[in-house]
Amino acid sequence: MILYCSCAIIINNILKEEEGFIMSQRSSFSSKIGFVLAAAGSAVGLGNIWRFPYLAAQYGGGTFLLVYLILAVTFGFTLMIAEIAIGRKTGLSAIGAFRKLDSRFGFLGILAAIIPIIIFPYYSVIGGWVIKYFAVFISGNGAKAATDTYFNEFISSTAEPIGWFFLFIAFTAVVVLLGVQKGIETVSKFMMPVLVLLSVGIALYGLTVDGAMEGLIYYLKPSFENFSIKTVLAAMGQLFYSMSLAMGIMVTYGSYMKKDNNLESSVRQIEIFDTGIAFLAGLMIIPGVFAFSGGTAESLNQGPGLMFVTLPKVFDSMPMGDVIGTLFFLLVFFAALTSAISLMETIVSILRDKFHWKRKFTCGVVTIIALLMGLPSSLGFGMWSHIKFIGLSILDTFDFISNSVLMPILAFFTCIFVGFVIKPKTIADEVKIGNTQFKGERLFSVMIKWIAPVCLIAILVSSILNALGIIVL
Ligand code: PFF
Repeated sequence: MILYCSCAIIINNILKEEEGFIMSQRSSFSSKIGFVLAAAGSAVGLGNIWRFPYLAAQYGGGTFLLVYLILAVTFGFTLMIAEIAIGRKTGLSAIGAFRKLDSRFGFLGILAAIIPIIIFPYYSVIGGWVIKYFAVFISGNGAKAATDTYFNEFISSTAEPIGWFFLFIAFTAVVVLLGVQKGIETVSKFMMPVLVLLSVGIALYGLTVDGAMEGLIYYLKPSFENFSIKTVLAAMGQLFYSMSLAMGIMVTYGSYMKKDNNLESSVRQIEIFDTGIAFLAGLMIIPGVFAFSGGTAESLNQGPGLMFVTLPKVFDSMPMGDVIGTLFFLLVFFAALTSAISLMETIVSILRDKFHWKRKFTCGVVTIIALLMGLPSSLGFGMWSHIKFIGLSILDTFDFISNSVLMPILAFFTCIFVGFVIKPKTIADEVKIGNTQFKGERLFSVMIKWIAPVCLIAILVSSILNALGIIVL
């Protein structure tokens, strides 16, 4: 199974279009699998391996998993179909696509453009942590990383995390600038199946450790006591993030999809890829939290550090742990890099469309902005840890603004736009072009018109009120 592929195909197509997105000259993926792999390359990343497990640990294990799966086949399916169809129908990226369908809704494209700009810098901070852990394991120091305080000492220091963060951005920028995505794509094609196999191996090993079974039960068994509206909020934000939804990315990918490709089954495949990897990451990490840290509330609520604290302990207890750790963090680095490339490429193409800047200059501008915006996220765990917004660290604040505020807003307006302005039939007609039938049409229409907008508003309002401390969920 070739899971990944870099966004190379799409990016090369963008490169060919020096003057922006022009429908008549637009290239497209040669095959359906090419499209699915490229979209999966953007979707599968740190969101699946780093973010999903810590949210699942924090928000009730099996309960979170169940809510996430339900949301994936309803909300995720609906939004991804809508975004890809809008892209394919108009042949434009988000900024132009909404405007072309109805000029009053051009603001949705602008909103979509802001979200990757917020995500990219802090995504790269985490990407830097991944490189650091790779370096620790390859230098044979995995045992040190397995100690309780190691991760916190690292992220609370000033210069070191910034150095790794810069390095991650540099890798991303060089790939985007030199257009060497093809090379990354080739490497990723080998790397990703290895990542899947390695993850299965690590998960199976982890389950043999004393105490892990309890963790497996926590991860797989839903329990009503663990359910709260916060579980739904967290799962929804994660769904958008992980599937690169509600930020215009899938509109752009859709604009490169051939008319005779089956849109509905492509969406299902991307969803399965993405959810499968996230599930596997949870399987690898959550039982480990029980086996090595006792599964206490504190250990489950570690948040962003969970992967970096738990996995080194798993590796430390394994034979050849340093080798396995090295390989694992290298693979995660590639997963993060392919996603970061698609984030940066999106920002670059938006700016170029808008300002008609040269590609090199635009890459420089985006790199500098990302460095400046990422610095506070990195410092927010150390020198600037006293700076909190609504009780959140700086990195978590960016994460909150994009995932819990802007994405639900964009998703809400996308639903209203499709449900009541262009009408679900427009999307259904587009889906049927390559397919003749749209199996999920009824689900799609009901979701996009009624269920999704109502839930999204409820989610948005409750997450903001909760964050402001007005209601405690
Ligand atoms: N979906 C990616 C992940 O789960 O890591 C994050 C992401 C990548 C979001 C690319 C947006 C994007 F354009």
